[in-house]
Amino acid sequence: MTKLLLNLRSSLKYLVRSHSSAQNRSFFWRRLSRPVSTYFLPLRHCGQTEKGRELFHSEFFVRKYNNLTTMPAKEPFQRLPSSVVPVNYDITLKPNLKAFTFEGSESISVKVTTATKTVTVNSADIEISSVKYVASGASSEVTGTVEFTKEKELVTFTFPEELAVGEGTLTVVFTGELNDKMKGFYRSKYTGPDGEDRYAAVTQFEASDARRSFPCWDEPALKATFDITLVVPKNRVALSNMPVISETDDSSDNNLKVVKYDKSPIMSTYLLAFCVGEYDYVEGTDSNGVKIRVYTPVGKKEQGQYALDVAVKTLPFYNDYFKIAYPLPKMDLIAIADFAAGAMENWGLVTYRETALLIDPKNSSSKAKQWVALVVGHELAHQWFGNLVTMEWWTHLWLNEGFASWIEYLCVDFCFPEFDIWTQFVNQDLGRALELDALHTSHPIEVPVGGPEEVDEIFDAISYSKGASVIRMLHNYIGDDDFRKGMNSYLTKYAYKNTFTEDLWAALEEASGKPVGEVMTTWTKQMGFPVIKASQTQNGNTRTVEISQEKFNADGKAKEGESTQWLVPISICTSESPDAPVKTILLDSKSQTVTLDNVKPESWVKLNAGSVGVYRVQYTTEMLDTLIPAIREQTLSPRDRLNVENDLFALARAGQASTVDVLKVALGYVTEDNFTVWQDLSANLSTVAIMLQYTDASDAYKQYAKDLFGPVAKKLGWEAKEGEGALTAMLRELVLLKMGRYGDPDTVQEATKRFEAHCNGKAKIPADLRATVYTTVLTNGNEDTYNKMLKLYDEADMQEEKVRISRLLGCTNDEKLIKRTLDFALSDKVRSQDTVFVVAGVTGTKLGRKLGWEFVKENWKQFHSRYQGGFLLSRLTKCMTENFVTEEMAKEVEDFFTANPAPAAERSIQQAVENVRLNAMWMQNESSKVSQFLLDRPSA
Ligand code: BES
Ligand code: ZN
Repeated sequence: MTKLLLNLRSSLKYLVRSHSSAQNRSFFWRRLSRPVSTYFLPLRHCGQTEKGRELFHSEFFVRKYNNLTTMPAKEPFQRLPSSVVPVNYDITLKPNLKAFTFEGSESISVKVTTATKTVTVNSADIEISSVKYVASGASSEVTGTVEFTKEKELVTFTFPEELAVGEGTLTVVFTGELNDKMKGFYRSKYTGPDGEDRYAAVTQFEASDARRSFPCWDEPALKATFDITLVVPKNRVALSNMPVISETDDSSDNNLKVVKYDKSPIMSTYLLAFCVGEYDYVEGTDSNGVKIRVYTPVGKKEQGQYALDVAVKTLPFYNDYFKIAYPLPKMDLIAIADFAAGAMENWGLVTYRETALLIDPKNSSSKAKQWVALVVGHELAHQWFGNLVTMEWWTHLWLNEGFASWIEYLCVDFCFPEFDIWTQFVNQDLGRALELDALHTSHPIEVPVGGPEEVDEIFDAISYSKGASVIRMLHNYIGDDDFRKGMNSYLTKYAYKNTFTEDLWAALEEASGKPVGEVMTTWTKQMGFPVIKASQTQNGNTRTVEISQEKFNADGKAKEGESTQWLVPISICTSESPDAPVKTILLDSKSQTVTLDNVKPESWVKLNAGSVGVYRVQYTTEMLDTLIPAIREQTLSPRDRLNVENDLFALARAGQASTVDVLKVALGYVTEDNFTVWQDLSANLSTVAIMLQYTDASDAYKQYAKDLFGPVAKKLGWEAKEGEGALTAMLRELVLLKMGRYGDPDTVQEATKRFEAHCNGKAKIPADLRATVYTTVLTNGNEDTYNKMLKLYDEADMQEEKVRISRLLGCTNDEKLIKRTLDFALSDKVRSQDTVFVVAGVTGTKLGRKLGWEFVKENWKQFHSRYQGGFLLSRLTKCMTENFVTEEMAKEVEDFFTANPAPAAERSIQQAVENVRLNAMWMQNESSKVSQFLLDRPSA
């Protein structure tokens, strides 16, 4: 849960930058070139390329993939008919920021491919007053009738005569609402200069909400060019994807201006964006001459400087990596007050939550800076991977998100090597992927997707984190040179077009000469991943390692008929070569023997060197015993130290290792000094700690934790040392927080002292220590402390601080204060986008978990209508339920959602329930042994 919360929720030879060159212009205006007939067959993703067809029909795919699919088959979803397709949209929108409505009109140049009387497009919550069609060259227009199919978000225009094959223009006049649901064209609230409420009109179209702004072919493969015009108050900033080409007075209203934007390249509807509001900006130019601006709330432009610096480095980084120029003339990044996701990659106008973009040099934590860098790195990568080349259908969403979630690390590593960000990847993404994908209710990376709620559902850790993890494994398998080559040819070949997963494999296969498609299909089309079992024998200086694979299940129980095989790249390191693998093989069968020469009898051997592989390893006791000293002595790299404990915790949870043994191994990390290793270990321990809350060993566990975290907390102390670096600051924050939360008297005393000084203005707590101090005083304090925290919340100007405080409020142990926190979360003091996390903040304690779940049940209707079944609702249901520990609770959660269905959260609910059953299993099998161990332990 903690992990989930933290992440709410990532060679200049071929082409040099030349966005204005004739060569790139021709890409710009090129029309859709994939044959129209391919758009409408449901889920024909697998049959598109030669390789795809072969794999889809191969025995392997049919047998394994079909058997593994746990979701029931649904009625096939219909794509839009292909008889008429868009070529260019000329759209005018006039938002009314007071009445929360908008007027719109559009002239769409279309191609009629089959003569037809009807044109069906997507439309939702829009009223249409007229629709007309005129064929190219014709003198008169025809008027159509309008019929909505509301539940399918479709509108059908019917004309008296057939529209002939050829070109023509469809003109639609309509009105809509600037809604408050953070999707489509919506209103976002901010405070005006006199403290009054004001509203901006902004957009969030991915995945399927452009249709709430104007009737359109709202599918990623139906690309077109766009001419946008916005009619807005003269004193407002108005932005869209392209630069402004003209700004004139509105002839009908002296207070309005008419802003026209340059024609966009051929692009998908979900990438369009409009922002109308009051903003300041900082501006820079990258080394290739692209103008970059970061738009901030009025009066806060200096908070945009950090993101601007990142963007100025990032854009040329990708230019160089892909060897393709950034295709647009400008790049705007803008902070939006009300924003459902973290950020959105609209082409040339990337929108962000305030916390994902704004940094106050004095008041932002190292974590916040790191997060901003990752998010900027992620969204800017989409400008190529996703925007220039787009998935053909949402089934391939993972390609967009998995890739961006991988390359954001490459980019941050380039910009900020001091974050050692790849080690953090192992915890943030690989760890999360393995945790979720071990569940029977997981799903394959490539999953058949139909309508909008199913699309929302797959913005999950499988698409993002498993997607990123398999790409990292692949990158490592073929090497950076071939990877870049393949990327360039893929992006060049499919620029302004759409792709299937297999198209990327084909490009990388050609570049590397390795069987990329064959290997990757085992990872993307079947769910889960293997556990590699390893045993060894020694002969002289030769080590023989026997390895075998089977599917890893979180409950340790295989399902009948399920897959047990992947093509697994496995690298092995040893004491002789701890950082560079001594051997890398591709395991392509159930089991294999690997021989390692020049390995001394006393040497350790570790599989999954650098923790690059998407699998777990189960060693014999003998092999594991040699790794323990290597952890203590740090001859193993940080990523490998992390990997060893992480696999052990998972095996213990699955009943394949004893939790007591794992807790003993964990004590060996007492000398650990790496932030990420600590972060991972402490998250794993928290899972055990949550279950122990339901035993009589909860206090004994706290003592265990204090013994473990104490020495490093002591070593680091409270004062930052000059030049110590971000990772040390983050480690201090983590370990002192643990000590404080578990009630270490010295830590509580120091935190209380600092909190008082902070509140009465004597000494501000540095940003990196605020979460630590706040958590400590809240867990150990009283109503007075709580009220002081609320006061700090009210006074905070930065969203980062408000979010920090509000997410922590729930860690109090007092029933009355927990209830206050829950009510506060739904009050108008907390933005809808943050409510979920404030509510989830109470789930750290047994009492909070119980009260939180009751609260969600009582207010279910309100939550449901606030989030309209979006991904925030999935997150809420999961966080609020997954940490219960009994079969009764699993049943209760199931029953509740049977009576109150939430289609977009369906899979999350199943996963949460499975997790509860895993907890129940652990309680039954392990809790008394663990309690005994903890109660018997002599304290340090
Ligand atoms: N394309 C997504 C935004 C999105 C998410 C739109 C869900 C619609 C539904 C964007 O690129 C993204 O992935 N944003 C992440 C942040 C990123 C750094 C992992 C997010 O919003 O959490
Ligand atoms: Zn993304």
